[in-house]
Amino acid sequence: MPDRTPVGPVLARAATTLAAAGIGSPRVDAELLAAHVLGVPRGRLVLADLTPSQRSAYAELVARRAAGVPVQHLTGSAPFRYLELAVGPGVFVPRPETELLVDAGRALLDSVSPLVVDLCAGSGALGLALAYEVPEAIVYLVEQDPAALAYLRRNAADVAARRGTGGAVHVVDGDVTRAAELLPGIAGAVDLVLANPPYVPTGTALPADVAGVDPDPALYGGADGLAVIRPLVGVVAELLRPGGGLAMEHDDTHGDAVPALLRADGRFVDVAAHRDLTGRPRYATARRTGKTGTP
Ligand SMILES: C[S@@+](CC[C@H](N)C(=O)[O-])C[C@H]1O[C@@H](n2cnc3c(N)ncnc32)[C@H](O)[C@@H]1O
Repeated sequence: MPDRTPVGPVLARAATTLAAAGIGSPRVDAELLAAHVLGVPRGRLVLADLTPSQRSAYAELVARRAAGVPVQHLTGSAPFRYLELAVGPGVFVPRPETELLVDAGRALLDSVSPLVVDLCAGSGALGLALAYEVPEAIVYLVEQDPAALAYLRRNAADVAARRGTGGAVHVVDGDVTRAAELLPGIAGAVDLVLANPPYVPTGTALPADVAGVDPDPALYGGADGLAVIRPLVGVVAELLRPGGGLAMEHDDTHGDAVPALLRADGRFVDVAAHRDLTGRPRYATARRTGKTGTP
């Protein structure tokens, strides 16, 4: 068909444009955008060609990507484990390294129908991945940012529909540092808390594709980066049942500080520090002691 253009040369030119603009993964991004325009999985692109209107839509997306718009904002979705989460301006784009936290959390579970809380839920990445992978889980996701909540509600409805009956997914609008008050019916009974709080120390120079793209409340955790994590430690202790587990992500400068905060609280045991696949300190796990109440 003369008005259709094979995707191969178009992709090659787009990748060159993106590389020249300093985009770190030009070929992958060129393919993701083409797959989005064509409505096909990335693996099927080799067989595809573009209509004139698809070519102009693609050219516009490549130009916006070259100008620094995140590829996930252009496609409207971000992969996270088995999910494709709706994302866009105003919500934190889930990162691949955070996927490790779901495995860490699942390793702490000893029930097929656990009660789980995701604190600082954003798009819902952690809690919804857990909900999808553990279909009998009852999952509460706490978030306070209105823009993030809009994406969270949409993603939660999608996952709830896909997992069918069994568990349940609840979105809670509120401040995580008050989560024990927000969730009075389950405080002291939670099997697992997952948390990826804002933890970047204010003033840290971030790459251009992070600063000004992800919302500031999702990134910054005060002068030392621990402004949310510090109160969260006590909140988690109030939420968990004796023996319940915690998996919490942190800044790579907090590999000692976060485990130290958990130990200092006195209500956690088995406190462990973990690194991500690049070897950077990335998250901590712990279990609630058998004793209840404040130490
Ligand atoms: C780093 S993002 C993590 C999002 C998601 N859990 C993930 O891993 O992709 C942190 C999220 O915490 C939310 N947040 C920050 N402070 C909060 C607070 N005090 N109460 C509730 N949510 C908060 C932000 O709006 C943001 O969505």
